[in-house]
Amino acid sequence: MHSIQQYLSSPAFDLPADLLPKTPWNRPFRRQDLGSVDLLGPLAARELSTNRSLAIHRILLNIYEQSMLFLPQRRFESHDLPSFRAFYDPDNVALGQSNRVALERAAFSFLDDHEIKVTGRWEWEHLEQYFLGVIERYEEEPCSLTARIDALDSPTTAYRYLLIQQASDFLSEASAMGRAMLGSFGATQSELMKVFIDEYGYGVHDRKHSTLFERCCSSVGLDPEPHRYYFHYLPSSIALTNYFHHVCSNKHLWFRYLGALYYTEASIPHFNKALSRALRKAFEGAGVDTRYFDEHVHIDQHHRRMVLDDVIRPTIALCGAQVIPEMVIGFESFRLLQSLADRDCLEQLAFVEDLERSRKGGFKVARRAYEAVDAPLAFSEPKGEISYSHIHDHDELFTVELGSMEFFAGITPVVLEAGDSIIIPAGRLHGSRVINEPCTYRVQKVRRR
Ligand SMILES: [Fe+2]
Ligand SMILES: [Fe+2]
Ligand SMILES: [Fe+2]
Repeated sequence: MHSIQQYLSSPAFDLPADLLPKTPWNRPFRRQDLGSVDLLGPLAARELSTNRSLAIHRILLNIYEQSMLFLPQRRFESHDLPSFRAFYDPDNVALGQSNRVALERAAFSFLDDHEIKVTGRWEWEHLEQYFLGVIERYEEEPCSLTARIDALDSPTTAYRYLLIQQASDFLSEASAMGRAMLGSFGATQSELMKVFIDEYGYGVHDRKHSTLFERCCSSVGLDPEPHRYYFHYLPSSIALTNYFHHVCSNKHLWFRYLGALYYTEASIPHFNKALSRALRKAFEGAGVDTRYFDEHVHIDQHHRRMVLDDVIRPTIALCGAQVIPEMVIGFESFRLLQSLADRDCLEQLAFVEDLERSRKGGFKVARRAYEAVDAPLAFSEPKGEISYSHIHDHDELFTVELGSMEFFAGITPVVLEAGDSIIIPAGRLHGSRVINEPCTYRVQKVRRR
C-alpha cells in the first residue's frame, strides 16, 4: 500500500456516522476518491477549487495539526479518548510527516514556479515602498467581499458560512506562528514574540484571539468547537491555514514567512473593519459579538508596524538584500491565496443562493441549456447514507428518482425529492444524506450549450 493510503487508513480519517464529527480529532477523508485523484502532481492556481486540491489540503492540514494540541472545552465522553489516541498515534504522525514534503510540493509549487516572479535588485527602501503601496491601494477601495455578500439574498446565511471558512484557522489562531518562535535568531525573535503574545492574549484566556472568535461564532448560533464544520471547509480556505504551516514548518522558507506575515497583519485592519460593520448590519439586533474583528482593527495597526520596522527591517540589515525576493514571494503568495479564497467563497455562496432560488421554483433544470458529456450513472443508497463533501471537475446534472435526500452546499441543506433536478457546477463543494430510502439518483456530466 502506498504510504499516503496507509496514513489515511487510520480511524482518525473514518467518515463519521453524522455529517458533523463528534470530536475535534475525527478528520473524515473520502478514501473512495484515492483511486481517482493524483495527490502528488503539482496543483495549478486554477485548480485550487478541485477535488484533488481538497484531498491534498485536507491531508496536509492534518499532518500539520497532528503536531499541535487540540482539546475540547467540555468533559471527555466515552468516544473522545479513542479518537484522541487515533489522531495523535505516533506511527501515524510519522507516516504523515514522511509524506509532508511531497504533498507541500503538490499544494504550493505553483506559487514559485509560475505565479510569482521577483526581478531586479531590491533594497529595503524599495521593499518598504512596495509593501506600503500595495496596502495603501488596498485600503483606498471599499471591501469587495463584504460588498458582494451584502448584495446576496441572505447575508446572514452567507456571513455564517464565511465565519465557518475562517474557523478553520481562527479557532487555533497563530498556531503556525508558534512554530516560528523556536530557535535562536537574535533581537527580531523577541520582537516577533511580542506579536505572538498579543495573539495569545498575553496569557489571559478571555483575550486570546481564538477565544474572541469563539464568542463571535456562538453569538450567531455556530458551534465554536474546532473543526466542527470540517465538512464545509473549502479547499481554498484550508490552503490559507496550510500556507502558514508550510512556511513556518520549513525553515528554508523563513523569509517568505515574514513577507506573508506582513501581508496578513497589514491587510487585516481594513478587512476587519468592513466585516465588523457588515456583521452588525446583517445581524442587526441579534447581538452579534464582533470583538474579535474590532480587536484586530486596533492591534494589527501595531502588528503591521512591528513586523515591518522591528522584524523585517532588522532582518534585512543582518541577512542582506538577498533575502528580499523571498519576502516579496511570501507577501504575494499569501495575497494571491487570499484573493483566490475570497473568489471561491463567493462562488460557493452564489451556488447556495442558486439552490435556494431553485427550491422556490421546484428544482427544475432547463435541460435544453445543457448537453450531455457522458452517459448518466445511477446510484441507490439506504437511509442515513452520507456522501461526504467533495467537488467535481465538470458541471453535473443531478436528479433524484426515488426517495429523498438532504443536499448540502451551505450549512443548511435543501431537501431533494423524487423528480427534482439541480445542476452542481464544477468546483462547488457539496455532499448529501439520504432521508427516505431507498434513494435512487442519477448524475450526468453536462456542459452549457
Ligand atoms: Fe490575531
Ligand atoms: Fe495580529
Ligand atoms: Fe457529487
